[in-house]
Amino acid sequence: KKVVQEREDLKAEIKRLKEELNAVILAHNYQLEEIQEVADFVGDSLELAIKAGESDADVIVFCGVKFMAEMAKIISPQKTVLIPRPDARCPLADFATPEKVRELRERYPDAPVVAYVNTYADVKAVSDVVCTSANAPQIVRALDAKRVIFLPDENLASWVQEQVPDKEVIPYRGFCYVHHVIKPEVVKRLKETNSDAIVIAHPETRPEVRELAHVVASTGGMVRYVREHPEHKKFIIVTEREMTVRLKRDFPDREFIPVPGAICSNMKKTTLADLHRSLTDMAFEVVLPEEIIRSARRAIKNMFKLMNHPLAEKM
Ligand code: 13P
Ligand code: SF4
Repeated sequence: KKVVQEREDLKAEIKRLKEELNAVILAHNYQLEEIQEVADFVGDSLELAIKAGESDADVIVFCGVKFMAEMAKIISPQKTVLIPRPDARCPLADFATPEKVRELRERYPDAPVVAYVNTYADVKAVSDVVCTSANAPQIVRALDAKRVIFLPDENLASWVQEQVPDKEVIPYRGFCYVHHVIKPEVVKRLKETNSDAIVIAHPETRPEVRELAHVVASTGGMVRYVREHPEHKKFIIVTEREMTVRLKRDFPDREFIPVPGAICSNMKKTTLADLHRSLTDMAFEVVLPEEIIRSARRAIKNMFKLMNHPLAEKM
């Protein structure tokens, strides 16, 4: 009882501080339930980037991993962007470096570089356009090129290749350990015991896993699919575990089955105590060199242009 009361007190204090600072709390769908509950907005990488661009708050507190907070800073450099846990990195993003991008450009000089949002700012700064799992096929399709370099996720690259067969997608050897380790046998077993369930998989899963899914979608796409299909009551959610928590809150009358062991430890780092400290100490501020912000902005602006999104004009 005491612990619950302390948690509620902390939440109330976070809300008070947030208003005092004119801050907005953005949280990714994989964040702990306690963080999702106090966030102003919970979403996928693209939805959160758009919120960062559209918000009129002075401070953005980003509960997620570092590349996402960087993305918010690049889109809104005039705002103070805080990340409560700067050690929350993404091992997938760590695969790509600016040097590797330069090497690939030399090898394929005619191919534009598409950087998945799961990259750090220095990689975006040397890329032509950014994409997320929500718009990757759309961006590659819209590019005026016969072949594209796509980095760093090889599973996402192979999904994009399937979706856009008239272009060559040059992949890169990178993967997300959380999704890559999900075995097809595990998903098959879940399907056998839940034969009435719809299987939705994230495109960072292996092709053999993706093939077992009825739907392949970003985490935001998963929410939309469930919303648009009230006729389906049960879903196997082939992505990080907390996604089922997010879905259950929005759709309490449906059933969501997670994949055992699919946990992103970096997404689990941020606690209510971290978020509270972030607001009291204005910690930890995302700071990027101006030059990197300018170059990475260009690649993000290109993404919004190819999506015909109004933020392209604001950037
Ligand atoms: P989404 O953009 O689909 O939320 O994916 C982000 C991510 O890190 C997936 O592992
Ligand atoms: Fe990175 Fe994978 Fe975690 Fe997403 S789930 S943040 S891609 S490690």
